[in-house]
Order: sequence, then structure tokens, then C-alpha cells
Amino acid sequence: MKSIAFFSFAVLVTAACGYAADLTGNWHVKQESPDGNVRETYFDLKQDGTNITGFMRSASFDRKVQSGTIDADGKVVLTMQGQNNRPGQRIQAKFVNGELRVTMPGRGGPGQEISATRAPEGEGGPPARIPPPALHKVPYNGLAKTPPMGWNSWNKFAGRVTAEDVKGMADAIVSSGMKAAGYVYINIDDTWEGMRDANGNITTNKKFPDMKGLADYVHSKGLKLGIYSSPGPKTCAGYEGSYGHEEQDAKTWAAWGIDYLKYDWCSASRVYKDEDMHAVYQLMGDALRKTGRPIVFSLCQYGRADVWKWGPEVSGNLWRTTGDIRDTWESMTKIGFDQDKIAEFAGPGHWNDPDMLEIGNGGMTNDEYKVHMSLWSLLSSPLLAGNDLRTATKDILDILTNPEVIRIDQDAAGHQATRVSVTGDKEIWMKRLADGGKAIGLFNRGGQIADMTVKWADVQITGNHKIRDLWARTDVKWDAAGYTASVPSHGVALIRVSK
Ligand code: GLA
Repeated sequence: MKSIAFFSFAVLVTAACGYAADLTGNWHVKQESPDGNVRETYFDLKQDGTNITGFMRSASFDRKVQSGTIDADGKVVLTMQGQNNRPGQRIQAKFVNGELRVTMPGRGGPGQEISATRAPEGEGGPPARIPPPALHKVPYNGLAKTPPMGWNSWNKFAGRVTAEDVKGMADAIVSSGMKAAGYVYINIDDTWEGMRDANGNITTNKKFPDMKGLADYVHSKGLKLGIYSSPGPKTCAGYEGSYGHEEQDAKTWAAWGIDYLKYDWCSASRVYKDEDMHAVYQLMGDALRKTGRPIVFSLCQYGRADVWKWGPEVSGNLWRTTGDIRDTWESMTKIGFDQDKIAEFAGPGHWNDPDMLEIGNGGMTNDEYKVHMSLWSLLSSPLLAGNDLRTATKDILDILTNPEVIRIDQDAAGHQATRVSVTGDKEIWMKRLADGGKAIGLFNRGGQIADMTVKWADVQITGNHKIRDLWARTDVKWDAAGYTASVPSHGVALIRVSK
């Protein structure tokens, strides 16, 4: 009896000890990355028995702990609130003898266990809000009269991109025939950034030791160099953003010889509301203009706040209309076939951007990639290849460089295609061209090969016309009844009809 009583007491004490030392507090985790940057995350937690509430704050975002627990062994599991209140990221930790060791998720690899330190209350919270400027119109910069064409590092390389990759891509864009087809911008996306120096100037990290030298190299090939930043304090990948340094950064980029900026909202949401986006983007539009260097201005805020209505007012040349594309049929078609409503906002100098190409990244069939290329061209979308051009196959290069399809994308009138009809999983889209002709896409989103017909009356075509099949690159005999094609599953027939 005695021993049972003692045993129960011992269990109670151990269990209590497991979480008696209170986890409540603001915990700081510092992670060093091989490129020389430091990533800081704060866990602002409150413990109540075995329950934990609070926030995870990185430099790029604040996330609420949706559910958190600690068990008698000090094992901590935190589930962050994800999109639409769904359970999001899960973080595990150990809290033993007053020490918190957090397993920080790795990029694709295993997590890294790091000791957290106690930080003062409030540290790691959102920075003070710099009031955005009053609105005015930033004059058009005269660029991107047709949708920009080039390459961007993110879809293939994400945070792994290096200066060597970029150089290799500049070489490959020339040797593969992509440059001759019109692709000229070599755009470095997120993760080139280092810290700021003593004067607040942005520096590059170890992966990009000499940005000016890289720009010179890219320019020597007759190409142009693009870069990436955020109006927030940090980028989406947690690197240094341009918050409070807009003019200074624009000057630095211009001095390096940068020709294109993708400006990604990311952590600006820690400071600003969607209503502020117009003014916040205007700040950079003005800063770029002040440099006197022609720099294409690409807005990336995922199509929020009706950006197509004010994008041109900040001298934006293109604006993302959606969240991030992935290399899947579902993602690509969900984005591409949803661009109908905003067609009227595209035009020379300012384009809707349904995100960069995934062609050649391996997640879709060649027929599906032809749908991707056809749809983006009909939509007058920027054509930014997102694959590794050094290893691209002939089939993939043929899709990316088809001159007759590119001519549709680059048509001088700059109209964006709209949907003519949808019948089950079959859709017909049409784009008006500068020469009075029309480009028509017959898309089969279904699982079976299908005959599809476009009747001339449905696309306002009367009288005899020339028809060109743009993928077969052959002329098609005129038929007054319309045009019929056998379209593969997840495939397209793309024609140009002209007088
Ligand atoms: C966001 C953008 C992507 C890419 C990443 C980089 O997710 O939408 O296109 O730029 O950030 O971190």
C-alpha cells in the first residue's frame, strides 16, 4: 500500500515536472544558412496546463498557433493556422530542464534541431509602419510594349540558385535558340540577397559574389538581367526586403545594371493592409523612375486588391493575377482558364501575369505543356521560362521556341484572349490580332481524345480566310462550315485565321 502511494506520488511529481517549468515566454530561434544569411524566428507562447497558444513570427509572416500541446516528457507539438483556418505547418520541439529545442523545418530535407533563447516580450513583432505616400500617377516607363520574354530562376531552383546557374542560363538561352526566339530577360528570383552594410546598402550573399560582374556578363550576350525584392522588411524566403530603403535599393540595382524588378508583397502584409498596396507599389515605381535607368517593373501580390485597375498608375508593366503556379496540370489549368474576367486590363506596356512557365520541369506531358504555351500566348502573358535551359530536350525547346505561337503572344495589339465557349471539358478561346486576324485555341481538358469544332459565326469570321495550324505549322484548307480538329486528351489545337 505504502509503495503504491509512493509510486503514485512519484508519477504525479514527474508528470508535473514535465511541464511545470512554464514554457510561457517569447523564444528566439536563430538559423544560419550556408549563403551567410541568418533566419530568425520567434515563438511567442503561453502555456496553460498541457495546452499551448501563441504565435510563430518569422521575419516574413506571423502565424497563430491553432493548437499546441506539451506532454509529460516535454514533447511539444505546435500546429499553425493555415489558409482558410485549416491546420497549417506543424512544428515539433522538446522542452526539458527549462531548455527549448525546436526542430526547424528544413528545405525539403530533414529538420534542424536548434536551441531557442528567451527574448524580451515584443521582440520579433512587426516593425513600425512607415505611412505610405499620397497617391499620384507615375508616368509609364515606355517598356514592355509586348509581354516580357525571358527566364526566371524560381520554378526550377527556388532558394538554391547561384551566380553560376545564372551564367549557365545566359549561355544556354543563346545556344538553345531561345534568345533568337525572343527570350531576353534572365531574372534572378528570391535568395540572392545578403544583409545591409553600415550605410544601409543592400549587399549580395555568398551565392552571388559579384552582381555587377554578372550583369556585365549577361549584357555581353545581348541579354538583360532581372532581380527580385519585396516592399516588406523581408522577402517570402526570409531574405532582406526593401522596406524603408526603396530609393537606396533602386539606386544600387541601377548601378549594378539591373533591367527588371519583380517586387513581391510577402512580409509587407506584416505592416500594411491590401488597401495600402497601390501607394506602397507607387513608392518603388517612383524610385525606379528616379534612377533614370529603364527597369521593367513586375508587381507580385497574387492578384489582390484588383491590381489590374491601378497597376499602370504605378508604372507597373505586369502584375501577377494569382497565387504560385506549380508544375501540374491541375495548377496550370486552374490558373490559365481562370483569366477571362480581367482580359480588358491587359495591353501594350501593362500585362496580366498568370505566373511563370513550368514547361520542361517534368510534371506534365508535352501535350499539357503545349496547352500551357498556347494558353499563355493567347492570354498575352509574359513568357518567362522556368526550367533548366542547360539540359532542356529538343521537344521542350520546340514548344518554347515555336515562332508562330510566340507571334501570337507578342502580337502588337496586345489584346488578351477571352473564352468563346465551354462545353463540358472542352473550351474555345479567341484572341484578336493586330492584322485583323484571329488566333483560336481549341482546348480539350478531358480524359479522351475528342473532335472539336469552331464555327466561324461564333468567332465573328465571315467570308473566306486563310487558316494556319500553329503547332503542325501547316496551312489548313478553308471550310465554310468551320474548323474541326481531333484534339488529344489534355491537348490543344491552335490556329491563326487571317484574310
Ligand atoms: C512568392 C512568389 C514566387 C517566388 C517566391 C520567392 O511565393 O509568388 O513567385 O518569387 O515568393 O520566395
